[in-house]
Amino acid sequence: MSEALRVGIAGLGTVGASVLKILRDKGEMLTRQCGKEIVVTAVSARDAKRDRGVDFSSATWFDDPVALAKSNEIDVFIELIGGDEGPARASVEAALRSGRHVVTANKALLAKHGVSLARIAEDKGVLLNFEAAVAGGIPVIKALRESLTGNTVSRVYGIMNGTCNYILTRMWDEGISFEDCLADAQRLGYAEADPTFDIEGNDTAHKLAILTSLAFGTQISADDIYLEGISNISLADIKAADELGYRIKLLGVALKTESGIEQRVHPTMVPVESVIAQVHGVTNAVAIETDLLGELLLSGPGAGGAATASAVIGDLADIAKSRPGFQHGPVFGTPAKALAPYKRAKMRAHEGGYFIRLTVHDRAGVFAAIAKRMADNDISLESIVQRQSASNQPEATKTVILVTHETTEAAVKKALEGIVKDGHATDKPQMIRIERAG
Ligand SMILES: NC(=O)c1ccc[n+]([C@@H]2O[C@H](COP(=O)([O-])OP(=O)(O)OC[C@H]3O[C@@H](n4cnc5c(N)ncnc54)[C@H](OP(=O)(O)O)[C@@H]3O)[C@@H](O)[C@H]2O)c1
Repeated sequence: MSEALRVGIAGLGTVGASVLKILRDKGEMLTRQCGKEIVVTAVSARDAKRDRGVDFSSATWFDDPVALAKSNEIDVFIELIGGDEGPARASVEAALRSGRHVVTANKALLAKHGVSLARIAEDKGVLLNFEAAVAGGIPVIKALRESLTGNTVSRVYGIMNGTCNYILTRMWDEGISFEDCLADAQRLGYAEADPTFDIEGNDTAHKLAILTSLAFGTQISADDIYLEGISNISLADIKAADELGYRIKLLGVALKTESGIEQRVHPTMVPVESVIAQVHGVTNAVAIETDLLGELLLSGPGAGGAATASAVIGDLADIAKSRPGFQHGPVFGTPAKALAPYKRAKMRAHEGGYFIRLTVHDRAGVFAAIAKRMADNDISLESIVQRQSASNQPEATKTVILVTHETTEAAVKKALEGIVKDGHATDKPQMIRIERAG
């Protein structure tokens, strides 16, 4: 049996404590599978006294995760602190520079500094593994980095935030408002006390930025993602989508066009019969479209202690199984120095078209005026329906729902501005993109 692999863990919260428990409970199995024992020799967190539900008294305690990262007591550093700067960044950099392999679940750090960290890892000949950073337990990083080598990827899209999918699913299933669903999600521990990062799409954007780099062999550009969250999705939208044969999901979408790459995160209507529309609750799913494979869909638990720790343990086992002295594969599938510069796609027509919901005064000529504004902006309509609004409204209003064919965002925005200027709309118009989905 080879010498034991010595591991240091910084961050003993939800994921860190789960990793410790799995290593304790499955130590024998992992030793057999990896051909060597995995031993946690050092740990770090803020509070040395807190009960973590697992005994780590045999490991050396470090108050400073950077000191742990550089310690001679470890071969692998596992970063489970979180955050794109501060102790997470400093400790990961320190570990890589001192020739330690790194495993992290930190999407924020990778979305911001992934390429520079990959350069350090590759210069030092060590591994930087981050399966847990995107869609928790789903092995999407390995799929893109290893299994799909040789495929040309055209589009990656997915549901990558369990909180948003939980809220949208319950709104659809039970007709509960966004605010009430969010409050429930917080009570059940699916949403943070400050849920902004999840519901406004930032969390999905970090994950998408990482997938984009892996899928298209480009440098990461998290700042270039068009971002729109789910907080303005109403029950009226969910109901209208249902009637039209769609489901609303918060999708992250990255696609390669002739002029460059398009990355966006926004509420999206997907056909009810598509596989992605069947992904409910806190479950995540990532679809990858390639020339050789067609569409691959990976679905499963995207968060939670055990599911996320499962990915961390898989990454750790890869390191334990790797042979010393062997050249390690590139962090983002392509050597960091060879990643192409990121090039943003030119504005173009959105393939799937748009859903538009308008609340308008119930007056003669409104319907015709809306159709004219659309025609003036070269927008062709797949359908236009109107219905009477609830009788408890102070004034007679109608809801008008339009579905457009392929058109540009600029044209839709201009048409809606015109409708508002005409004085017909009583509320801000709602616009949701429709996405082709398998
Ligand atoms: N939770 C999930 O489902 C999930 C899923 C996918 C990815 N992730 C990622 O996994 C990482 C960890 O998430 P988590 O949910 O486990 O977070 P968490 O429960 O908040 O745990 C964070 C840990 O970091 C420790 N910490 C904070 N500042 C520190 C410092 N300066 N020095 C040393 N330790 C410090 C905390 O110590 P104390 O305990 O003493 O306060 C705590 O143990 C994040 O990058 C997150 O994005 C989480």
